[in-house]
Amino acid sequence: MHNPALAALGLDWRYLACDVHPDRLRDAIAGAQAMKFIGLNLTLPHKLLAVDIVDELDASAKTWGAVNTVRFEAKDASGAWQPLAKLNPDDIGELRSHGFNTDADAITRSLREDLGFEPRGASVLLLGAGGAGRTAALKLASEGVGSLFLVNRTTSKAEEVAAEIRTRFPSVRAHAGWPDADVDLALNSTSLGLKPGDGSPLDEAKFPLRRARAVYDMIYRPAETPLLRAAKAAGCKVANGLGMLLYQGTKALEIWTGQPAPVELMRAALLKDVYARA
Ligand SMILES: NC(=O)c1ccc[n+]([C@@H]2O[C@H](COP(=O)([O-])OP(=O)(O)OC[C@H]3O[C@@H](n4cnc5c(N)ncnc54)[C@H](OP(=O)(O)O)[C@@H]3O)[C@@H](O)[C@H]2O)c1
Repeated sequence: MHNPALAALGLDWRYLACDVHPDRLRDAIAGAQAMKFIGLNLTLPHKLLAVDIVDELDASAKTWGAVNTVRFEAKDASGAWQPLAKLNPDDIGELRSHGFNTDADAITRSLREDLGFEPRGASVLLLGAGGAGRTAALKLASEGVGSLFLVNRTTSKAEEVAAEIRTRFPSVRAHAGWPDADVDLALNSTSLGLKPGDGSPLDEAKFPLRRARAVYDMIYRPAETPLLRAAKAAGCKVANGLGMLLYQGTKALEIWTGQPAPVELMRAALLKDVYARA
């Protein structure tokens, strides 16, 4: 999605994927900085490691405890730090790395746009308490969700996230376990459904899908997971995680370029690439 967007913005940049061992992440970020890269995206486990590596953390990275976007910056003539995109390459002296998180905003933006889901006062069943699950739980809590029910294979992790929510957002009712009433949203943040033959992450004996008004699966490939198939059959409104992927990317592009992202062009590029749709 980034390369077509860069072309549309008339930028002579390229977005590349590089495989980096976690032990070499510090070297990789320093190397990219030395080569005057504009920025980077990071995926797990680098998102957590980078928090202690980058020179500066944006409020978004501090709040969610993870960095998925790095912007390299240099000082302008007045001594203020500026994105490299705003500087003449010949004038670049001292450099620094600035870490951001665009994942959390992408979750709620996609829930709003793809499902019409409004977090304030809503009740949510969240399946999974890994990196993406924790971020979703904290972001929903920060937007005033009413009740949050956390279910995870490793129960202790759901309990830890519930405890963190209660400490940071005391007005949210956060509970590790299945809901005792209908919910506005069931949100899958487990990786169950990624692989062919995977089952659903939701145990319908514990919570029937018809009791969820809407179901969101962070997985976007396959486009329809067993959870989404069952949710559709149960009459729920459904969406997969493509919007989340899209919006973390559009925000990162805006951080690097300082320009509005061509969202629809990026969505079309993603659909083509992920689902081979024309
Ligand atoms: N759409 C997007 O842009 C986007 C962005 C980020 C992530 N995701 C998706 O979100 C999912 C989670 O990502 P993550 O970064 O949070 O990964 P993670 O930190 O590794 O967490 C994985 C989660 O899945 C659970 N899990 C794994 N295998 C399971 C199984 N066989 N049965 C039940 N639960 C299982 C884990 O439970 P335990 O704690 O018990 O191990 C944990 O809750 C992945 O599918 C990923 O593709 C999508």
